Amino acid sequence: MSSHAPEPASPATAPGSPEPLRVLILGAAGQLGVELQRSFSVHAEVTALDRHGLDLSAEQQIREAVRRASPQVILNAAAYTAVDRAESEPDLAMAINAHAPRILAEEALRLNALLVHYSTDYVFDGNKPGPWTEADLPHPLNVYGATKLAGEEAIRALGGRYLIFRTSWVYAPHGKNFLLTMLRLGRERDRLSIVDDQQGAPTTARELAQATHSVVSGSLASHFGTPEHWSGLYHMTCSGSTTWYGFAQAIFQRAAQLLHQPSPELVPIPSSQYPTPASRPQNSVLSNALLAERFGLRLAPWPAALDAAVAELRGR
Ligand SMILES: NC(=O)c1ccc[n+]([C@@H]2O[C@H](COP(=O)([O-])OP(=O)(O)OC[C@H]3O[C@@H](n4cnc5c(N)ncnc54)[C@H](OP(=O)(O)O)[C@@H]3O)[C@@H](O)[C@H]2O)c1
Repeated sequence: MSSHAPEPASPATAPGSPEPLRVLILGAAGQLGVELQRSFSVHAEVTALDRHGLDLSAEQQIREAVRRASPQVILNAAAYTAVDRAESEPDLAMAINAHAPRILAEEALRLNALLVHYSTDYVFDGNKPGPWTEADLPHPLNVYGATKLAGEEAIRALGGRYLIFRTSWVYAPHGKNFLLTMLRLGRERDRLSIVDDQQGAPTTARELAQATHSVVSGSLASHFGTPEHWSGLYHMTCSGSTTWYGFAQAIFQRAAQLLHQPSPELVPIPSSQYPTPASRPQNSVLSNALLAERFGLRLAPWPAALDAAVAELRGR
């Protein structure tokens, strides 16, 4: 995060109690799940469940796992994120991205816990020249976006204490993502064609996790007023924007400097030359103004966050 971020309230104790905060992290093996564990484990008592610990397509398992952990905060980093595959598995995508969040919201309400959930820039159709705000009308172009939107709506309809963070183009030095795919393809091929007519904000899981920690700690410590003031939906991405082609250029510049990996020739192409099962929005840049206004928080510019991710790869 940039220096604009407030210091996280530390240690993350339960409000009015010397006991560490009980935090349940779901999707613990995913890109964001790994980074949330890093950010929260220092001060909180974390229960982290991956798919083997909890299958989010099984309602009763979800209820039992939440009741067993009895958390004060639930961080749901799990999702059906295979955007193209979702076109042929809409029911499974809906179960993980919409039904499971509804059940989590019901259980959170029962425990008076805070539910933190993540959504996507793909709730928008991309037909807006400037950054999308939280007040803009969603209109997903693909099944993944529709199921994520249904998840948001299910949580909002229940109305407990919740934070939904819509983010975009998530990557990390681990997991499955554009950064690691580019580095692999760059080692295998001399020439890569990359889509240059979709605009978005690459965002590291690390930035998201740190920002989440900051917002959650501050909110529970009443730094942002009562829950009526802060509970809600926010956009949360690294600042700035680029295209996939621009992102690839930036990756290979850093790979050459820091990883001594030779760069392939990069060829910008329109989306029409790279057909995929799922349509994607042309402009999915999100405005982070509300996050800044409500929590005094700005994530790093995307090139700086990329520097940090590639530096972490070099350290391995
Ligand atoms: N990745 C992006 O570009 C992007 C963009 C915008 C928003 N987001 C949102 O950001 C959040 C974090 O995404 P991410 O990039 O960290 O995703 P990720 O790396 O794909 O992690 C998602 C995790 O959810 C798990 N999962 C899937 N189905 C499950 C099930 N039935 N039961 C339990 N766990 C299950 C996955 O397990 P397996 O690995 O075993 O399948 C995976 O570990 C998600 O809400 C996502 O929708 C992501």
